[in-house]
Amino acid sequence: MTNPSSVTPNDLSAFWMPFTANRQFKKQPRMFVGANDMHYTTSDGRSVLDGTAGLWCVNAGHCRPKITEAIQNQAAELDYAPAFQMGHPKAFELANRLISIAPKGMANVFFTNSGSESVETALKIALAYHRVKGNGSKFRLIGRERGYHGVNFGGISVGGIVPNRKMFGTLLTGVDHLPHTHLPAKNAFSKGEPEHGAELADELERIVALHDASTIAAVIVEPVAGSTGVLIPPRGYLKKLREICTRHDILLIFDEVITGYGRLGKPFAADYFDVQPDIIVTAKGLTNGVIPMGAVMVTADIHDAFMTGPEHVIEFMHGYTYSGNPMAAAAGLATLDTYKEEGLLERGTELGSYWEQALHSLKDAPHVIDIRNIGLVGAVELQPIAGEPTKRAFSAFVKAFENGLLIRTTGDIIALSPPLIVEKTHIDQIVDGIRTVLKEVA
Ligand SMILES: Cc1ncc(COP(=O)(O)O)c(C=O)c1O
Repeated sequence: MTNPSSVTPNDLSAFWMPFTANRQFKKQPRMFVGANDMHYTTSDGRSVLDGTAGLWCVNAGHCRPKITEAIQNQAAELDYAPAFQMGHPKAFELANRLISIAPKGMANVFFTNSGSESVETALKIALAYHRVKGNGSKFRLIGRERGYHGVNFGGISVGGIVPNRKMFGTLLTGVDHLPHTHLPAKNAFSKGEPEHGAELADELERIVALHDASTIAAVIVEPVAGSTGVLIPPRGYLKKLREICTRHDILLIFDEVITGYGRLGKPFAADYFDVQPDIIVTAKGLTNGVIPMGAVMVTADIHDAFMTGPEHVIEFMHGYTYSGNPMAAAAGLATLDTYKEEGLLERGTELGSYWEQALHSLKDAPHVIDIRNIGLVGAVELQPIAGEPTKRAFSAFVKAFENGLLIRTTGDIIALSPPLIVEKTHIDQIVDGIRTVLKEVA
C-alpha cells in the first residue's frame, strides 16, 4: 500500500497506470525518456524502433519540428480561450482544414479531447439528431462484438470487448450488437480484405426485424477493428451495412480513431472502402498524438437539423472545457501541414505491398496461426499457451522491447502500426525483430 509521506519523486507506486499490468511493470519498468522520428530512447540509453506509432497515433513520427514549434509559439501567444460562447481563430481554421480533407459529405466538426470523448459525442449527436427531427423513438444504438470504442460508458456499451465491459454494471440500456467479422477458419492469412463474410452485415436486418427500425438511432463500427486485434472487414461488408442503414433511416457512424489520418493509405477508411458514413469519429493522428484532441465530423443534414429555434439559445447541450483548445488546434494544424508536405496520408498506398509481403513472410515462424494486413496495419496472431491466454504474446512484447522494438499486443495477437514515415529498412527490422522474438518465447 502507498504511504503518501514516504513518496519520493522517482517512486513508481503512486501512479495507477492505465491498461497496464501495474505490478509487473513496477518490478521491471520500461521507461521512455526521449523520441525522434521512428525511434524512442529508453531511460538506460537504448534506442527502440516504434512499430506502433505510440498507440496508433504518432503518424508523422516523433518530435517533428513543425509541430513542436507550433505548440511552443501557441503557448506564448494564446494559451487558453473559453470554449463555450467564445472562439479563437485556429479552432475554426482547423475545422475547415479537416473538412477539406474529409470524405465526401462531411460538413461540420465538433472538437473533443480523445477518442473516447469523440465516441460519446457521436452517440449523443445521433440520439439528439433523431429527436430534433421529430423521431424521438429512435433511441437504440447498435455496436459490434469485439468492437473497441474507448472506455467511457457509451463506448463500452456499444463496444464488444468482454473484459472492458464485465466489471461495470448494466451499462447503457437499449444497445444491441452485430456479430464480429473474424472468420479464421475461412479467412486465415488473408492479404487485405478477406473474401468471406460480407453476409454478416445482413445480421443488421435481423436486429432491425427484432427491434423495429423506428427504435434504432445508429450503428457504430470501426471500419477496421484495431484494439481487438486488427479485424479487417470482409470484402463488401461495409457497403452492405451502409445500404441497410440507409434503407431504415439509421445513422452509420465510422469510428476512425485508428483508421483516420492515413493509416490505410488514404486520408480516411471511408475513402479507402468508398463508403460514406453519416458521422466520423476521430482523435489520435489528428494532432500526431502530441496534444490530446479528437474531432467528430458530421454531414450538413445532421448539423443543420440542430440549427433551429431562437438564435440566442444553445442548439446542442454538449461540449468540453478543452473543445478546440488553442494548443491542440495549433498542433492539429501543424500536423495536417506535415502530413500534406510529406504525402503521409497516401504513403500507406505506396508501401502497402512491401509491408504485406514482409509481414506474411512470418507465416512459418513459431506459434503463428494467422497474419492479417491492410494499409500500414498488421497483425500476427499466435497460438495461445494452453490455459494461459495472453502470456505468450506478452512475453513477446517484453522481449521485443528488450531487443529494441516496440510492438503492441492484445490477447495473443501482435498488432503493428508503424509511423507513416516508416522506410523499407524499418519494416525489415520490425519483421526480423518479431521473427527473433518468436523463436525465443515459450
Ligand atoms: C477505434 C477506437 N475508438 C476509440 C478509442 C479511444 O480513444 P482514446 O484512448 O483516445 O480515448 C480508441 C483507442 O484506441 C480506438 O481504437
